[in-house]
Amino acid sequence: MTMASLQSKYDAARANLTQVGQEHVLTFWADLDDTAKAALLADLDQVDLKRCAALVEPMVRNRPVLELPHDIQPPEILPAEADAAHAAMYAEALRLGEQAIAKGQVAAFVVAGGQGSRLGYDGPKGAYQVTLVRNAPLFQVFAEALLGIERRYGRRPPWYVMTGPANHEETQAFFTENKYFGLSADDVRFFMQGQMPAFHPDGRIMLASKSRIALSPDGHGGSLRALSVSGALDDMKRRGVEHISYFQVDNPLVRPIDPLFIGLHIMKRSEMSSKAVTKADDKERVGNFCIADGKLMVIEYSDLPDELAVARNADGTRRFDAGSIAIHVLSRAFVERLTSETATLHMPWHRAEKKVPTVNDQGNAIDPDKPNGVKLEMFVFDAIPLAENALVMYTRREEEFSPVKNATGVDSAVTARRDLNRRAARWLASAGVEVPMGEDGEPAATIEISPAFALDAEDLRRQLKSKPAIKAGDSVLLA
Ligand code: UD1
Repeated sequence: MTMASLQSKYDAARANLTQVGQEHVLTFWADLDDTAKAALLADLDQVDLKRCAALVEPMVRNRPVLELPHDIQPPEILPAEADAAHAAMYAEALRLGEQAIAKGQVAAFVVAGGQGSRLGYDGPKGAYQVTLVRNAPLFQVFAEALLGIERRYGRRPPWYVMTGPANHEETQAFFTENKYFGLSADDVRFFMQGQMPAFHPDGRIMLASKSRIALSPDGHGGSLRALSVSGALDDMKRRGVEHISYFQVDNPLVRPIDPLFIGLHIMKRSEMSSKAVTKADDKERVGNFCIADGKLMVIEYSDLPDELAVARNADGTRRFDAGSIAIHVLSRAFVERLTSETATLHMPWHRAEKKVPTVNDQGNAIDPDKPNGVKLEMFVFDAIPLAENALVMYTRREEEFSPVKNATGVDSAVTARRDLNRRAARWLASAGVEVPMGEDGEPAATIEISPAFALDAEDLRRQLKSKPAIKAGDSVLLA
């Protein structure tokens, strides 16, 4: 940038910042060299000052009081598998879903913008190696599921990968190094999610240093806007994609494209559909599906009042038992409607108080030991109440949900690997293969089934030409 254009950008930035009382962002301008000045201006380009200004009073200077809806009821949920009452409907839904996939109307969409901080893993979470025999990373598992879909339905779905500023380049490089795990570059489109600045409790935008704004990802709810501003929605339209199959990067058991789920979404003319599992315990750290004041929504574990979390039905079963596993199908038209220029995105912001490294008035670095800043995020499930005909279906936890969130203990790599192995053993057993079991009740062999080879138990039965003989201690790969 030339000096003259730096100066004119500075003038414009100063005017915009002054309008919203945030001119302190430029406090150290005179101390900066041109590179640092350009970096600060580039950070400012990321910030929607008007949007921030509207949030300062209600969300930053004040702690919003969570207003729970008055009337909270459990929702009706479609079963994981068709019972007699649903048999005809599910058969038709499956047909519709398979047809949409074969016509290329379905895209996969993974949100992979978060940082694996809880996992203590320093890299894009999708690069985390998770499978039992090949140690394949999460991204490979999803890529192979798309290859499995192509094998089965004759069409490879395009894949949209939302990254974050901390991992965007690295994620793309990881795909390139690994030759897109058998996909082609044209099948995969990367885009970065939006960012929000952190705020001082008094409402001022925080600086990370003299020349940088303290920016962080705006939550997976920001993915809807990011789909739009990145041009991904237009790309989908060009390709004839009507339905977006959304999942999180942390769950190796997910079926990235599920024909039955997609078919139900189409059949019910739902704009946003969700999968649920029965909760492992009253306070499991998953969102809770509820009908609140007549609308389907998810109430986060931290917000669900205790008396509701422990409530029981007359027969002793848990009253709020449907946990969100962050698997959705969204209609492209719905995302377009929510994010169109004329629409105001009516999704709420969630406030979190965090430790944010910053600088003091003299420009000296401060590494806080307690929360000193406010971060704002959007959650994707807050779009559900805005959708027409939103539906929820159950899926079986052991078949589809075992996220890698923590380094050890629950929802860790250990439990995810255990669940991958159990599922593979179950699929093999249902195909008539004898799987040796250990005294601990776990399969006594290490088994990996690539989703490219088989997408589910039924697919495996079809795919197995002969029954492998498996002995205790064996390592078995079906790929
Ligand atoms: C999340 C859900 C919870 C659900 C659970 C299922 C929230 C607030 N809660 O919990 O309802 O039951 O998953 O596993 O989301 N991500 C981004 N950008 C961001 C933030 C997150 O892409 O700015 C992505 C992450 O890469 C990850 C996913 O979103 O794939 C989940 O984020 P995380 O913060 O781990 O959510 P959880 O608290 O585990």
